[in-house]
Amino acid sequence: MALLSTERVTMRFGGLTAVSRLDVRIEKDEIVGLIGPNGAGKTTAFNVITGMNTPTEGRVLFAGEDITGMARHQIARRGIARTFQNIRLFKEMSVLENVLVGCHLRLHPNLFEATLHLPGYRRRDAEARAFAMDLLREVGLESNADELATSLPYGKQRRLEIVRALATRPSMLLLDEPAAGMNPHESLELMHFIRRIRDQFGLTILLIEHHMQVVMGVCHRIYVLEYGQTIAQGDPAAIQNDPKVIEAYLGAQ
Ligand SMILES: Nc1ncnc2c1ncn2[C@@H]1O[C@H](COP(=O)(O)OP(=O)(O)O)[C@@H](O)[C@H]1O
Ligand SMILES: [Mg+2]
Repeated sequence: MALLSTERVTMRFGGLTAVSRLDVRIEKDEIVGLIGPNGAGKTTAFNVITGMNTPTEGRVLFAGEDITGMARHQIARRGIARTFQNIRLFKEMSVLENVLVGCHLRLHPNLFEATLHLPGYRRRDAEARAFAMDLLREVGLESNADELATSLPYGKQRRLEIVRALATRPSMLLLDEPAAGMNPHESLELMHFIRRIRDQFGLTILLIEHHMQVVMGVCHRIYVLEYGQTIAQGDPAAIQNDPKVIEAYLGAQ
């Protein structure tokens, strides 16, 4: 059974079909790429999977359960986390506090307890801090914990976003152009980072990315979208040699 699958998912905005009859199947432990030119519908596919958009047609299944149309927090609680195409860190918060936001999403502490600072809340807060520090240690950002998130170099900010998503303890991680704006060296580092966290945290990963070196280097399989349609799928070698892909995407660069 696939961990995540979409069945003929279609997303229309008025007269525009952003995603058309999308069928993806992602097995546990896979790293799967989703590529295609700008406007192809990649981010919309993520929005549908994570509950930001309810598809016009089709179904999304996660771990055997139909999650189509569920609220974002319900889907997050089932173990799907994502990052966004543009950095969305809390600028005025420290690195540690940004990770804590992710932790609290998982623990969803009772607001009443939080207001009164009851022991239950304080204990859970301490647990969350310890967990967040562990996470930062594991990804090599421990020494940056108290710095402002925005004072980090760009590559580390993008990594911090991924760490914040990890704080929700997901089994599936959706990364939307994590290497955007990175130089070749940072992209290469990110590729190793993605592989490492996949192994370390037992993740299954769906990755949108334009940096071909990253996509081809890290993905087991790739789906190619163009104007909402899936024009190709296969392993990196097959995708790189597919004339339709070369014409639609690789050739256009
Ligand atoms: N909320 C929305 N309302 C209207 N059109 C949208 C919305 N979200 C995305 N689109 C359109 O859907 C198409 C696919 O967009 P998107 O999924 O962001 O593409 P990609 O991530 O592949 O670049 C684009 O034409 C975009 O303008
Ligand atoms: Mg996008």
